[in-house]
Amino acid sequence: MKGIILAGGRGTRLYPITRGISKQLFPVYDKPMIYHPITTLMLAGVTDFLIISTPQALPTFQELLGSGEKWGVSIQYAGQSEPRGLADAFLIGEAFINGDPVALALGDNIFHGAGLGEQLEAINRGNQGATIFGYTVADPSSFGVVEQGPDGKAVSIEEKPKDPKSNLAVTGLYFYDDQVVEIAKSVKPSKRGEIEITAVNNAYLQRGELDLKVLPRGTAWLDAGTFDGLLQAAEYVHAVEKRTGTKIACPEEVAWHIGLIDDAQVRRLADDHQNEYGDYLLRLVG
Ligand code: G1P
Repeated sequence: MKGIILAGGRGTRLYPITRGISKQLFPVYDKPMIYHPITTLMLAGVTDFLIISTPQALPTFQELLGSGEKWGVSIQYAGQSEPRGLADAFLIGEAFINGDPVALALGDNIFHGAGLGEQLEAINRGNQGATIFGYTVADPSSFGVVEQGPDGKAVSIEEKPKDPKSNLAVTGLYFYDDQVVEIAKSVKPSKRGEIEITAVNNAYLQRGELDLKVLPRGTAWLDAGTFDGLLQAAEYVHAVEKRTGTKIACPEEVAWHIGLIDDAQVRRLADDHQNEYGDYLLRLVG
């Protein structure tokens, strides 16, 4: 399965401090925000990435992440000059996807919870239709909102509804089979002129091929795309990391844990950090 990360086309809620750069390069406490979607997808078994951002921000992503080889993965890059909607990722990424199943992760969404990696990996292996993830939030009206039928299955999805039919927000992580590019091409732009991911998900729903997984209460889903959200995410990562002495979304650790890189490579990567982050990497490999 391929993985696409959308990083930076939008970001208007943090504008103008994001002018010329991407919010996904901002630190969430001790790491750039983009480390979160990268590690989430790595845990799902993705090693082939496409990062989509503005042409202005791409060189900085390339400087930070390179070819991905240092983490045992492949990272390619593509520019999106105008925000044309999340589903535009499948048109920009058509050649990259090359008929394979693909996961889409929004660059400002942060996931953390026991067993999440295993769950995502199992969905990746199953690879059928579309899978979306619902999460209970107090105020769902700024998200896609999914309504469940009595059997727990999705019956409707509405994008940012004024009167939400449930408290279940659709998170920014989506798994699709090989139909997604054709579906994205057939979707009509919304009132705001964008091809919405919600329209793609509704197309799968109409075909009876949309699977809704509700993330359990013990899982954290944070949106670091607003001023408050960014600070809350940093506070969350800080609190958990300090309490446990382990790191959330550390790509070097994840790559090592799943066997993409060996001890010697972790030691080489640790050399880049003359700080507590480097010490952490060295401790991992003893
Ligand atoms: C997008 C999607 C929305 C989803 C949200 C998750 O909204 O359109 O359905 O719930 O991401 O973060 P955006 O934040 O791009 O406005």
